[in-house]
Amino acid sequence: MQKETLFVCAECGLHYRDEKTADQCRQWCLQNNSCNMAITRFSVERSKKMEADQRPEGETRVFDRKAHWEKIYAEKKPGEMSWYQEDPAMSLRLIEERGLSPENRLIDVGGGASVLVDRLLEKRYQHVTVLDISENALRHAQARLGASGNNVTWVVDDVTKFTVSEPYHLWHDRAVFHFLTDEEDRKAYVAKAYQALVKGGVLIVASFAMDGPTQCSNLPVQQYDAESIRRPFGEKFEFLREEGELHRTPWGKDQKFGYFIFRKKAE
Ligand SMILES: C[S@@+](CC[C@H](N)C(=O)[O-])C[C@H]1O[C@@H](n2cnc3c(N)ncnc32)[C@H](O)[C@@H]1O
Repeated sequence: MQKETLFVCAECGLHYRDEKTADQCRQWCLQNNSCNMAITRFSVERSKKMEADQRPEGETRVFDRKAHWEKIYAEKKPGEMSWYQEDPAMSLRLIEERGLSPENRLIDVGGGASVLVDRLLEKRYQHVTVLDISENALRHAQARLGASGNNVTWVVDDVTKFTVSEPYHLWHDRAVFHFLTDEEDRKAYVAKAYQALVKGGVLIVASFAMDGPTQCSNLPVQQYDAESIRRPFGEKFEFLREEGELHRTPWGKDQKFGYFIFRKKAE
């Protein structure tokens, strides 16, 4: 079968059958930090979606979250992904500020191939768990860490569904919760975080800010500020504070993040 040539918008990653439209998309994304529906409707991804929307009832295709992420991590190297950080300084500082002891238990949910786990091991934390829906993602981190990866608990599962064996003192999530655009998924995540933490345990959630991107990895995201993040978490977690961060993608584009810190309330 003959392979089709596609042109990609380097900003949002959508694909086009002609170079001109891909360039229009890139120009728009660069100037507006978001996509223009009048342009993206010509993308291969949107055309497929429109096709699916026109399918007769009962023939809907369900989005396979795991397959999506496995594919991303199979096709790209960690340093080629928009969320890649050489130095997860903000996460590390916010974790260190909590003054945990090396025996305390920490979990990085949706940790992917992040080097945060490397830094936590260097800081002598003895009980670090990295959970991700993608096994391919964790393989990148394991290959990088070599033997010291044996000191980490690796869990391949969906954060909304995993089984907590022993509670954690700190839960860290950079750029995972914001993909949960479905209310039921958000509720399941919050219930899981509550169940997974000891009383007074710390929850750090980093998401795109209100003026940050509207999508990532071709998926829509929910942006948050200190007020809106309290809606899903506020009932079970006490809000402590927030910090903003300007993340620069490997291709030099700035993305605004918010880091929100909570403490688990008593039952
Ligand atoms: C944008 S990346 C962020 C990765 C990492 N936290 C970082 O800062 O480099 C999102 C990560 O969440 C994972 N992920 C997405 N949905 C998930 C879910 N429902 N449960 C667990 N992991 C998930 C993806 O596989 C991916 O590694």
